[in-house]
Amino acid sequence: MKRILLMTTVLLCNLAAAQTIISTKNTSLVIDAAQGKEPLFLYYGARLEDGDLSSLRAAGFQELPVYPALNTNGAHPEALCVRMPDGNLTTDLRTSSIEESTWEGGKIYSISCKDPVYPLEVKIYYKTYEAEDIISTWTEIRNAAKKKKDEIVLTRFDSGSLPIRRGDVWVMSFGGGWADETEAFCQPLGLGVRSVYNRDGVRNSHKAHSEVMISLDGKPREDSGRVIGAALCYSGNYELRFETGDTRRMSMHRFYAGIDPTHSAYTLAKGESFTTPELALSWSSEGLGGVSRNFHRWGRKWKLTHGGQVNDILLNSWEGVYFDINEEGMHSMIRDIADMGGELFVMDDGWFGDKYPRLNDHTSLGDWVVDRNKLPHGIEGLAEEARRNGIKFGIWIEPEMTNVGSELFEKHPDWVINAPKRELVTGRGGGQLVLDLSNPAVQDYVFGVFDGIMTACPEIAYVKWDANMQIYSQGSGYLKNQEHLYIEYHRGLAKVLDRIRAKYPNVSIQACAGGGGRVNWGILPWFDEFWTSDNTDALQRTYIQWNTSYFFPAEAMAAHIGASPNHTTGREIPLKFRIDVAMSARLGLELQPSAMTEDEKAHCKAAISDYKKIRDVVQLGDLYRIVSPLDGKGICTKLYATPEKDRAVFFWYSTEYFQGKQVPAALFAGLDPERRYRITELDVFGKPLSCDGKTFSGRFLMETGLNIPAKNYQGGPHRDYASHVLYLTAE
Ligand code: GLA
Repeated sequence: MKRILLMTTVLLCNLAAAQTIISTKNTSLVIDAAQGKEPLFLYYGARLEDGDLSSLRAAGFQELPVYPALNTNGAHPEALCVRMPDGNLTTDLRTSSIEESTWEGGKIYSISCKDPVYPLEVKIYYKTYEAEDIISTWTEIRNAAKKKKDEIVLTRFDSGSLPIRRGDVWVMSFGGGWADETEAFCQPLGLGVRSVYNRDGVRNSHKAHSEVMISLDGKPREDSGRVIGAALCYSGNYELRFETGDTRRMSMHRFYAGIDPTHSAYTLAKGESFTTPELALSWSSEGLGGVSRNFHRWGRKWKLTHGGQVNDILLNSWEGVYFDINEEGMHSMIRDIADMGGELFVMDDGWFGDKYPRLNDHTSLGDWVVDRNKLPHGIEGLAEEARRNGIKFGIWIEPEMTNVGSELFEKHPDWVINAPKRELVTGRGGGQLVLDLSNPAVQDYVFGVFDGIMTACPEIAYVKWDANMQIYSQGSGYLKNQEHLYIEYHRGLAKVLDRIRAKYPNVSIQACAGGGGRVNWGILPWFDEFWTSDNTDALQRTYIQWNTSYFFPAEAMAAHIGASPNHTTGREIPLKFRIDVAMSARLGLELQPSAMTEDEKAHCKAAISDYKKIRDVVQLGDLYRIVSPLDGKGICTKLYATPEKDRAVFFWYSTEYFQGKQVPAALFAGLDPERRYRITELDVFGKPLSCDGKTFSGRFLMETGLNIPAKNYQGGPHRDYASHVLYLTAE
């Protein structure tokens, strides 16, 4: 038995058994990688110490391969399938060494394995993010052939797999579509296969998300029970699957996550390696909430660009003017958001195109020249107007795409993705096409789009990077091996984004993809935030934002006040409710201020000023979800607290109202029971609640709570859509 100690590199030789405890602050994962044997998975859960290892084996849990491959013991499904040079489909992975090193946030372990017969080498990595209780895993698969002709083909190449003891295990996965992002689906795990996959090719969080919550103690709860959260950090196609067989060998469910191999078998030539994306795991005994807080801390600290810094309050032009961009209109929006206390104005789609002016979504993508008919003084003129008004300026681009009606396509028809010899299959508006980012010339072009705009106007502080189409016709005029397209597209995109970030480390970039199509930890490291959904209906947003918060922090979650009636749902919702929902994430506006009354503008101005007081708590604090809008209680409540629990913000929304309806008392969570908190109601419209200005102990608020009436007294004529934002400061 051996525990690897603090050394930079350790080589294990001739050990009959080599159990390694991979630990974070509160969790451990144990593997047994004895030399010459297949590495085995022993445990993932609460933190263990060396002395627990003998108990672990004595407890009798089943030991299964860490990275199962198709081999002679065909009792388990595979994470790795390889076609060897002679056509043999089996793989036999034997440990040759384990190495350990330290990095800033924890440790990295790598288990090197070799196939004794074929030229295959696999390294299995584990990386700890100690303080955040995340352990991630991925693999590096190498063709170690001696002869040039010896290619190997990867037909399945998951990032990792995890055995989970059967019992009352439930899985929560997420999916939806445009304007209906991130519905939650929660079911017990039975026999057979359950698969969560995305094959869009470009974006990957509309139809399904690559994150799942796995509850080990029955239907998941917010604040108790053992839960494992898993997030595959990859920007392209993926498959997460649970496989449960009814054999003696399967007293465990097995969870696998990796790039989706459908139409994507990957050929490795002699000496080539393939690195699979990171699969991040977090275990918590504090229910869904515990796992979410771990992912939020991890995302802010290690993943998001500028994570841990609050994001600006902005006005985006899209729902205010759509394609109807003109200089006076933009100036007026700039003045309006500056007057309301905002910090940034973002000009959305519709500002570009020369031969093909962008009047709708049918043409112009690729022609990133300013339309001088609409903006005679160019982007610089708008940036100057923003500066004059004391705010920053941002712009929308969609650089991975083109239109049939564009000068770019006329010049480079071979740059688009479409199966050779087939008719063009176009998207959005009828004429849109995806550019072939596997082609280095296209990569240079896409980098050039960003670079060109920034060079022409260095004052641009924010870029909304959109992607509104999937790959329909799989085919590249550049690649020899068409099966590599989906993967090479995302490698190309990563290269472009690396170059952009190297040259422009300070600019804020939003990941948008037809709304929330790129809410994923594989793409977000190049971005500051994401557009959560094109649906700005505040009622539906209580659901979308709730579910998105399972894996993504409020700092990155753009939430804008839309118009009423809402442009997507047609629902009429009072301004206060719309503001209060947007205040629970990264606040912004998505409407035409000139269509607002002076009172409405004043209301927004006051709310923006209130939001500035709580923005750091909301964007950077710990989230406690309390009552889900899905629970059918007619309310939705949640709270953000600083890690020190000295400040907190409580959000309360009525999501359904009937005359005489009684809702549960508003219970708080995440506070210090021993401290007293003063409550200040924010965004007050009319009479404040009776708790305003009073103090309560944290214990009282968490055990007894407040009586908040379901009826709306603050939202004008409406009796429904009551909402309250309560700011708590410890005395
Ligand atoms: C996508 C985005 C919107 C907007 C439009 C512009 O749909 O999600 O927010 O930027 O494109 O065409």
